[in-house]
Amino acid sequence: MIKCLVQSRFTRCLSWTGVRRQSMFKSGFEHLQHIKKDDSKTHILYLNAAHSPTSLVSHGARILLENLQREKAVEEVKLWTEQLVPYKIDHALSKLKLLRGEGTDEDKDRFAPVLTAAEIINSMDVVVVATPMWNYTIPYVLKQYIDIVVQPGINFNDSSDSSLTKNSGRILVVISSAGAEYGPGEEIQDFLNPYLKQVFALMGFTRFFPIFIQGTASRSKTDCLEWTEKEAKKCATELNKILEATSL
Ligand SMILES: Cc1cc2nc3c(=O)[nH]c(=O)nc-3n(C[C@H](O)[C@H](O)[C@H](O)COP(=O)(O)O)c2cc1C
Repeated sequence: MIKCLVQSRFTRCLSWTGVRRQSMFKSGFEHLQHIKKDDSKTHILYLNAAHSPTSLVSHGARILLENLQREKAVEEVKLWTEQLVPYKIDHALSKLKLLRGEGTDEDKDRFAPVLTAAEIINSMDVVVVATPMWNYTIPYVLKQYIDIVVQPGINFNDSSDSSLTKNSGRILVVISSAGAEYGPGEEIQDFLNPYLKQVFALMGFTRFFPIFIQGTASRSKTDCLEWTEKEAKKCATELNKILEATSL
């Protein structure tokens, strides 16, 4: 399913969706395609932007996933190695034309793989992001992924009568690491966690669990690993309670 993000599989994933009115962009895409999911499992999208498998954030994600008790289906996107939809300026221009109701068949064909990738978000119960901080925010590969999949009418809709409101209450876990420390009220701020919290909440991932491994440049690796493990297990315990009590 996640392979629809990969360019070579575009043709298999193509499905045209229409356009309807919607407030933030004045209009939104209408989704006709519904991905079937197995409701007996928790569907987890693991967005892996870690520097390496031995990174602190990789360790945190492994511990978290291992400690989730409910039966799960994990779709991992290795953001540094997988080829995503090559979202270029032509895609953005086609999107704007389509939303204005002026799109041609060429615009529709160009944009179809983007909408297919966006639909995948709706079939997920939990998103786990593992990422280092880069220049106070997320690395570009993760931003690129977000710019592809966040699509009006498909996985967000800011009008109050949205059929997508049923998607809220889903879970976002952000496991991030930073060389420095970012206390409240400091002049230098963390833009990574607030940004991911806001953009995934837009798509219905409104339960936010951050595991922010700070000060990695000054703390020992052992200290950081121990802290990460403890926090990942604590987070898994909280998630297990939610997953047991809800239909996620
Ligand atoms: C390109 C690059 C940019 C970075 N920018 C920041 C930054 O803005 N703030 C910060 O605290 N650490 C920054 N770091 C440090 C990383 O966050 C650090 O490598 C990370 O904490 C290591 O953790 P890991 O074991 O999860 O890879 C940067 C590292 C790289 C490679």
